[in-house]
Amino acid sequence: MAGKLFLLALLMLLVIHIEASSSSEESNPYPEDSHKLKLWLTISARRRFLEVSWKNAPAQSGDFVLLTKQDPTSFEKLLLPPGTPLASFNNEEASGFGEASVDYVPIHGVTSKPDTRNSGQRFWSANGGTIQIVAAIQPSEGISSQWFTTGVPFDYALSQNVTVETACYGFWASYIDEEGRILAKTCLRAYPRWMNELKSLIGEMRLRDLFLPGTHDSGSYRPDFDPLLKESLVTKYALCQDDDIRGQLMHGVRYLDIRVGYYRNSEEKFFIYHGITKQRPLQEVINQVRDFVLETNEIVIFGLKEFPVGFGKGLNVHHLLVSYLREQFEGLIAHPSLTWRATLRDIWNRKQNVFLAYDRQVIVDEYPQLLYGSVEQRWGNVQTWPRLEQYLRNINDFDVSRFTSRPVADMAELTPETWDVILDKHGGLRKMADNINWRISNLYRDELGVNANIVAADFIRGTTLVDTAIQYNRRKIYA
Ligand SMILES: *[C@@H]1O[C@H](CO)[C@@H](O)[C@H](O)[C@H]1NC(C)=O
Repeated sequence: MAGKLFLLALLMLLVIHIEASSSSEESNPYPEDSHKLKLWLTISARRRFLEVSWKNAPAQSGDFVLLTKQDPTSFEKLLLPPGTPLASFNNEEASGFGEASVDYVPIHGVTSKPDTRNSGQRFWSANGGTIQIVAAIQPSEGISSQWFTTGVPFDYALSQNVTVETACYGFWASYIDEEGRILAKTCLRAYPRWMNELKSLIGEMRLRDLFLPGTHDSGSYRPDFDPLLKESLVTKYALCQDDDIRGQLMHGVRYLDIRVGYYRNSEEKFFIYHGITKQRPLQEVINQVRDFVLETNEIVIFGLKEFPVGFGKGLNVHHLLVSYLREQFEGLIAHPSLTWRATLRDIWNRKQNVFLAYDRQVIVDEYPQLLYGSVEQRWGNVQTWPRLEQYLRNINDFDVSRFTSRPVADMAELTPETWDVILDKHGGLRKMADNINWRISNLYRDELGVNANIVAADFIRGTTLVDTAIQYNRRKIYA
């Protein structure tokens, strides 16, 4: 008996040792300890404000979260001259959770509400005053996990400047304690090559085994659109993303939800549709996918579905579309003989990185050299968060599809009903996204991420799904 125990102990030591040595692997670009303080930066949909969220915070009095436009290395306490204005922060944009709302957020240049209480107050500066603090948030004492919308606007021109070399850009957030020590830091970042960077960990997995960030209605974006200036009832319920396809892919999205309409009488025949509203030319979307894949060697699922306009009852237009897709993607099309059981390494070996998943089985059957069957979309068709949460929990709890290799996509967005759109009941898709994106982020981060496959959201930059997906994917090897 004692001998057995001894052996068991030895075995456990060995296991611990192996885990310790493999988790110190240096090649891993996204290390994480799930009990550590961690911060995220996201962008709200409605006003395009920077949002900052965190978990596992000590949440002591005197802690601050400071937002800067450069990478800060140190924070120093300064004595502010009396009367320096601090903008008060108490408006409907605040989406903080936990019990308390934020005390105040000084926003540079906003001096609308001079606060007389702060005369002679000590305040923070960054890097010896050489970089500016654009917002400061005081975490609520004792609440370890929070999410706030700041008043700092994000300019999507910054996002368009992202390249395959970009990691951090634009904004940094630092969590500091009373002494100014940086306990955690994050940045706004792109993930242009996350699959390739995790190759040694995930190369033997199938697409179905991974957590893949996706976008809902991926082609429903409008370049250089400013929702604060140009919003109409149509844009309010038609646009679903703020980045173009290239921007979505650069920021880590690997599943695209593509709804194509056919326009017989125009020179450009195929367009992305959202419902019955015409969005981007399909050509633009294809070009961006192709260029991205050629540049990064990442794998993309191109999910074609709905065909809402111009396809008629016959299959002629489908044949036109398929030959157009073949001509455009050429050698990049993953050959269906790979099947969904192919590992990432199998896919990379063939250098066929684009999966054409086509939601019309009779057509799939006719093109066994080009088309995969559709990704199964799990769509709750609900209008409120409690119902969406329940739906997402249910499909993940009783998930029989886990044992097959066909990918499934959790459609993590609210869907307005026709009359809701006409009466503008929900205030638009942006408002609906701001209402749920932080909740979805937390739900998948804390609970559903373990078994999630594709999760597709509206205005994905308002979620932490990409970071969460990468974290779960890199941990799968230890499971
Ligand atoms: C994007 O890059 C161009 C060229 O480098 C630069 O001139 C421009 O200011 C950048 N835009 C933003 C918003 O940073």
